[in-house]
Amino acid sequence: MRNSDSVHHVRGESHFIEDINVPEGTLFGYVFYSPIAHGKIIKIDYSDAFNSKGVKGIISAKDIPGENQIGGVIPDENLFAEDSVHFIGHPIALVVAETYLQAHEASKKIKASFKKLPAILDPREAAAKDELIIPPRTFELGNINDSWKECDFIIEGKVDSGGQEHIYLETQGAVAFQTEGGGIKVFSATQAPTAVQRTIARILGFPMNKVEVDVQRLGGAFGGKEDQATAWACMAALAAHKLGTPVKLILNRQDDIRITGKRHPYSSDYKIGLTKDGKIIAYQATFYQNAGACADLSTAILDRTLFHCTNTYFIPNVHATALSCRTNIAPNTAFRGFGGPQGMFVIESAIYKAAQVMGIEPVEIQRKNLLKEGDEFPFGQKTLKCNASRCFDELEVNYPFAKIFQEINEFNSKSTLIKKGAAVIPICFGISFTTSILNQASALIHIYTDGSINISTAAVEMGQGVNAKLKRIAARTFGVAESRIKVESTNTSRVSNTSPTAASKGTDLNGFAVIDACNILYARLQKVAAEELGESDFSTISFNHEKVFRNNVVTGLTFSNLVNKAYSKKVSLTAQAHHSTPDIYFNTKTNKGNPFAYHVYGSAVVQVTLDCLRGIYEFDFVKAVHDFGEILHKTIDLGQAEGGIVQGIGWMTCEELKWNSEGKLLTDALSTYKIPDIHAIPKVMNIHFLENSPNDFGPLHSKAIGEPPFMYGLGVYFALMNAMRAFRPGMEIKFDTPLTPEKVLLMLYNSTTN
Ligand code: MTE
Ligand code: HPA
Ligand code: MOS
Repeated sequence: MRNSDSVHHVRGESHFIEDINVPEGTLFGYVFYSPIAHGKIIKIDYSDAFNSKGVKGIISAKDIPGENQIGGVIPDENLFAEDSVHFIGHPIALVVAETYLQAHEASKKIKASFKKLPAILDPREAAAKDELIIPPRTFELGNINDSWKECDFIIEGKVDSGGQEHIYLETQGAVAFQTEGGGIKVFSATQAPTAVQRTIARILGFPMNKVEVDVQRLGGAFGGKEDQATAWACMAALAAHKLGTPVKLILNRQDDIRITGKRHPYSSDYKIGLTKDGKIIAYQATFYQNAGACADLSTAILDRTLFHCTNTYFIPNVHATALSCRTNIAPNTAFRGFGGPQGMFVIESAIYKAAQVMGIEPVEIQRKNLLKEGDEFPFGQKTLKCNASRCFDELEVNYPFAKIFQEINEFNSKSTLIKKGAAVIPICFGISFTTSILNQASALIHIYTDGSINISTAAVEMGQGVNAKLKRIAARTFGVAESRIKVESTNTSRVSNTSPTAASKGTDLNGFAVIDACNILYARLQKVAAEELGESDFSTISFNHEKVFRNNVVTGLTFSNLVNKAYSKKVSLTAQAHHSTPDIYFNTKTNKGNPFAYHVYGSAVVQVTLDCLRGIYEFDFVKAVHDFGEILHKTIDLGQAEGGIVQGIGWMTCEELKWNSEGKLLTDALSTYKIPDIHAIPKVMNIHFLENSPNDFGPLHSKAIGEPPFMYGLGVYFALMNAMRAFRPGMEIKFDTPLTPEKVLLMLYNSTTN
């Protein structure tokens, strides 16, 4: 797989935060955090810690010259606790010492006493106590109350989905340097360099121009560094500012798992009404989101749950309410899908349950209700170039579902303890930041006199291959080889006011900005070439394969010659461009609008094999027809699809977070939190590219790929349910992820049901 970083990664030469060369005298930080979930701080005695070997300073709230506030959306989060703590892991101070181990040792000598207060861990309990981050939000379409009487079947139920720890390979971290005049330069592992810059400025009471943030790449992020990389960069910056020395702060794995937020667990209620031929008439849902102790991005994530609450189906009457519930666990945050998967799991569960009650296959309901061209989503947007049925039908042609189910039945009839199950999962994911203003980006391009090209954008490389894609976009636009192009680090002094690289929009937004900036340079170079060739009409000039063409006929000029000529004619070889997504808006009062530039569609069929004695399972295959638009980078997009699917499978099956009754996370290491390993990778993954589906709203007609395939993973839950029901037909169906082997066994052998 040719990600542009592959060679350096394999040789261990790529630079992450840990690899940044720091000068002698650099100090190291360790975060001292709350050991209790909720309470008042009575007294903290730092004296023994301060006198501990190597300690150079202990930084806490009182050292903040600006505002002790890091909340990106709602100002409800301190960098360091002041008089109360709200989760185990709530930062209280930063111990700074000559070595990391000295800082860690010293932190153990801090004596803190608290008055414990009751901790809320359950979102429904938080809602009952009115502990909400924002008032409940409701999306509505049609008339839910009148519609129930049209239904032949009405099914109600409860669905729980667990959280998910990001387990990016590189833990959170930053290095901060003081620069001339008291400014700060920070190398941060963040998806959101401008958010880091803005927040450091707020903490230090600086104008933003005194803070420079640079990001070379992240060792994975998956949403976990969209908001939650900020705190560590602020702490390092504050310490560097206070002590006048460079400060490095990197969380160890266990602290990272304990202190930082995860995918939001949800608990939801649904009511679905259908006609006897499987048409969904009405759908009502209430989502209780476990937000954790502060808002973080929870409100935007809550919105996306509502945006995706009907997945890829047209339902004429919808009433969906979502509550962001404040609890005493670490603030939960963005994670691939951004609340979408949680919403989609509930409708898919409702359909599965309805099918069971009606005695049909879920796929009959899924097929019958797929979105069609011009259908309206509950938020008012109508589908445009809807590929839902195309993907679904093409999948069924390639892999006839009836045949798959038939073969499974034959297998199961001959096998007692090993059972197979399959499920179909269609997806639909809206592309754009749901916070409309974030849909902007810019690019800065330099061409040097030797013809080499340098690109800076707002995009952060985190393994998703955005740099390789931007390189490809620039190379195609200029008609030159990709080897000519280097994508620079993401830097707030080169590219300002960046939106996070998130919402799968990295390539879309920055790619369009790159195209615009390339086109500015292209036009200048066309003019220079026209002059050189004695051609009066510069529009006849084009560049391709590194050569200059006139009226599509090759000339003697090469791209490199031309660049050199431009320089001698004192033509600027630098261009900057800004791009924003046109025509998207959303009214948060009416909850109607056109929030998405477009949707990504796809369908997958998944099959599992379940060992009903041991509760363990294998994934036989995931076969999908996915709408990539006009594919920009085949291997990278395939990698994104496969990686997303495996991450989705992990969320559905093995990744289980457990807290004790005191709010302590018990699964805070890779020995207790099981991530998908090589055995969890489906034995076959066939991802077909939907042909002939150019996207008018993506660069070079491509579509975003980062998040949507995650949702195919949902299919394994229903496939496993089918395998379990083959073993125990009367089994009570539960929607409670993750479906660990332990839970499989409890459900298969529970004696209270038939
Ligand atoms: N792929 C890798 N390898 N590492 C990551 O951290 N993050 C995912 C996805 N794919 C991620 C990834 C998430 S949550 C998003 S939003 C997108 O990549 C962000 O990048 P893009 O907008 O360039 O697709
Ligand atoms: N995805 C990721 N981050 C975001 C979004 C989104 O849709 N909206 C606001 N921040
Ligand atoms: Mo992705 S969850 O939008 O960083």
